[in-house]
Amino acid sequence: MKVSYHGHSVVKIELKDKVILIDPFISGNPLTDLDALEEKPDVIIVTHGHGDHLGDTVELAKRNKSLVIGNFELATYLGWQGVEAHGMSIGGSYQFDFGKVKLTPALHGTGLETGDNQLIYLGMPAGVLITAEGKTIYHAGDTGLFSDMKLIGERHPIDLAFLPIGDNFTMGPEDAALAAEFLQAKKVVPIHFNTFPPIVQDPQDFVNLLKNNQGIILQPGESIEL
Ligand code: NI
Ligand code: MN
Repeated sequence: MKVSYHGHSVVKIELKDKVILIDPFISGNPLTDLDALEEKPDVIIVTHGHGDHLGDTVELAKRNKSLVIGNFELATYLGWQGVEAHGMSIGGSYQFDFGKVKLTPALHGTGLETGDNQLIYLGMPAGVLITAEGKTIYHAGDTGLFSDMKLIGERHPIDLAFLPIGDNFTMGPEDAALAAEFLQAKKVVPIHFNTFPPIVQDPQDFVNLLKNNQGIILQPGESIEL
């Protein structure tokens, strides 16, 4: 499979016959190389309801008839907007036709801002484990460091992990390096940095903290074959 990074938290997984997009924040993402009008995901996974993760989900899903996977509240909200959505909860896994998805904890918030100074509650923020074609990918979503990442790594050998390093809203580089150690992922790619002023980081600082050549910096548009 081909796994590519597209700026902020956008990750694309291209399997033999399915394309999965995670957190498709494309419109308004200053870092992305993608054009929302050209993307044709079969599946969209949304880690949580913040705008920089939900992104173009509704438009993409409606145009491509994509299946959207997220927590129950988020899936319900998207269903009301005419999107085919599959709701899950933290700790639950489900075997889809393309592979297995499990939602993992994330220490973060989840309110979606509306235009009239309201926040819509969209359930528990999550990370996600995707197992397909014999490989397991972990996308941490937005989260602070938590010690149960050790358990995630023990339960699910991870081939490739995407970890936020931007600080302020998520782990910074030092905590993310400890997360990489807890998870024992074979390869780790930093995400969620340099998109906005509060999360400016040099990803090399993060990679330098990692052991065993674990770290790979992907520029938007670059990919890894698994
Ligand atoms: Ni967030
Ligand atoms: Mn975010």
